[in-house]
Amino acid sequence: MKKDLLKLLDLSGEDIKEILDTADQMKYSQKHGIPHDALRGKTLAMIFEKNSTRTRVSFEVGMYQLGGHALFLSGKESQIGRGEPIEDTARVLARYCDGIMIRTYSQEEVEALAKYASIPVINGLTDFAHPCQVLADLMTIREKMTRLEGLKMAFIGDGNNMANSLIVGGLKCGMDVSVACPQGYDPDPRVLDFAATVEGPKFQLCRKPEDAVVDADVVITDVWASMGQEEERAERARAFAGYCIDDKLLSLAKPGCMVQHCLPAHRGEEITAEVFEAHADEIFEEAENRLHAQKAVMYLLMK
Ligand code: CP
Ligand code: NVA
Repeated sequence: MKKDLLKLLDLSGEDIKEILDTADQMKYSQKHGIPHDALRGKTLAMIFEKNSTRTRVSFEVGMYQLGGHALFLSGKESQIGRGEPIEDTARVLARYCDGIMIRTYSQEEVEALAKYASIPVINGLTDFAHPCQVLADLMTIREKMTRLEGLKMAFIGDGNNMANSLIVGGLKCGMDVSVACPQGYDPDPRVLDFAATVEGPKFQLCRKPEDAVVDADVVITDVWASMGQEEERAERARAFAGYCIDDKLLSLAKPGCMVQHCLPAHRGEEITAEVFEAHADEIFEEAENRLHAQKAVMYLLMK
């Protein structure tokens, strides 16, 4: 494993497998009351420049369960909001803490933080990537389907942070990945370049959701307007019309296919209320697995 978790492009398939195996152990220990306080006495600083429910709570609770402590730093209320360079914040936090989790806009800011911090840095979402979420998704799919290799993942919607991380994570785990995005909303070129290096017909970028979901084992979506894109909401609603996971679309996937959504969800936009409720157990298991997957990441990076 590297020092940091900044994006799945930095990890090998073996690294991801090690995290998922450790996450399964973390979940087992937590469910069976087996002590796993390997981070006793350690502190995680959590910087949030965007909203969060799951990421904030799962990191804070996870750190507590590992015997350590997590502290919340709001981008606005800390000196980051007044323009203190991230390079200086990195060197200060490294003097007090044992790890940093950051949720922000620019991937470059996270990379700079990691470069200047001598302690591990974990990306809790940028505009480019959401690696912790996708580790939880892969864990959830493997848990239900018993494997990842050879399964087909279909992502319907915006070529955003989730699409970018799902493509990389899925391909690195040997999955087939099909993505359907409207023209102008494709995944990041760095991700498409990576997908082009994967041998065999493993990756497909489609315009029609119907083409992407054929024979899928898992169908995934995310909001049409991500955090920071609120002003584009009306324009995006027009562009994404038809990119909704409904029963008709799901009928083209494999019988018994899973549905995943990182949440929060907008029923009636990217997913119907009916499909959401029919797959609520899988979706909330995915949310729970954030806790176990991130405990695995913190343990592997900070122990
Ligand atoms: N899925 C996810 O990252 O949720 P939050 O925005 O609530 O952290
Ligand atoms: N793509 C969404 C994910 C939220 C967890 C966003 O960036 O807002």
